[in-house]
Amino acid sequence: MRGYPKWFYRFLIFSFTLLTLTGFLLIPNALDMRLDWDVSWHLPGAMRLAVVALHATIAFLVVSQLGALWSVHMRIGWRHHKNLPTGLGLVAVLLGLVLTGLGIYYAGEDWSVPASASHIIIGIFIPFVLVWHIMAARHKQKLR
Ligand code: HEM
Ligand code: HEM
Repeated sequence: MRGYPKWFYRFLIFSFTLLTLTGFLLIPNALDMRLDWDVSWHLPGAMRLAVVALHATIAFLVVSQLGALWSVHMRIGWRHHKNLPTGLGLVAVLLGLVLTGLGIYYAGEDWSVPASASHIIIGIFIPFVLVWHIMAARHKQKLR
């Protein structure tokens, strides 16, 4: 990644992985608590709290990384018209997660269930969109 210290790439992948893992771990609890689904396993109470806290903390970290990517990485891509469709897809998915994540916290009772369901559905896409973005970038690098 041009314009960033070497550790930034690993830090980015680590944060995205942890965000996705904690998000996936929380799905059974959300289905049980919000949608009244009968799930066979979910995190026990204290563990859920710890995973939610970790998830929300990593989410803030990822949003700040988005700011760092905006100021150099995205501008370079935008200017050279490189990797735009998958890059914009990633940005859209992340913005969707931020908005629905805020919805889980702050939307009133009527909206917090739809916010939670949309958050889960959008969240499932993030690892695929990130891998797609990286593969598209590497494929183009090989062609050059
Ligand atoms: C930058 C991206 C993300 C942000 C800003 C974000 C933010 C949040 C926030 C603020 C919450 C509420 C925590 C609480 O209940 O106190 C939450 C819950 C949750 N997140 Fe995320 N999240 C992100 C990515 C993901 C991903 C990738 C997944 C994977 C599927 C995911 C799945 C969940 C689940 C299942 C819950 C619990 C929902 C509920 O209790 O209704 N999130 N997230
Ligand atoms: C949340 C947003 C984004 C994330 C997390 C992200 C992450 C990444 C990662 C991890 C790579 C692979 C580097 C490698 O393996 O060599 C990459 C490559 C690339 N991305 Fe993004 N990207 C994002 C948004 C964008 C956007 C919006 C654009 C275009 C405007 C873009 C353009 C590029 C280009 C041109 C490359 C290949 C050159 C390079 O590695 O710097 N990206 N991106």
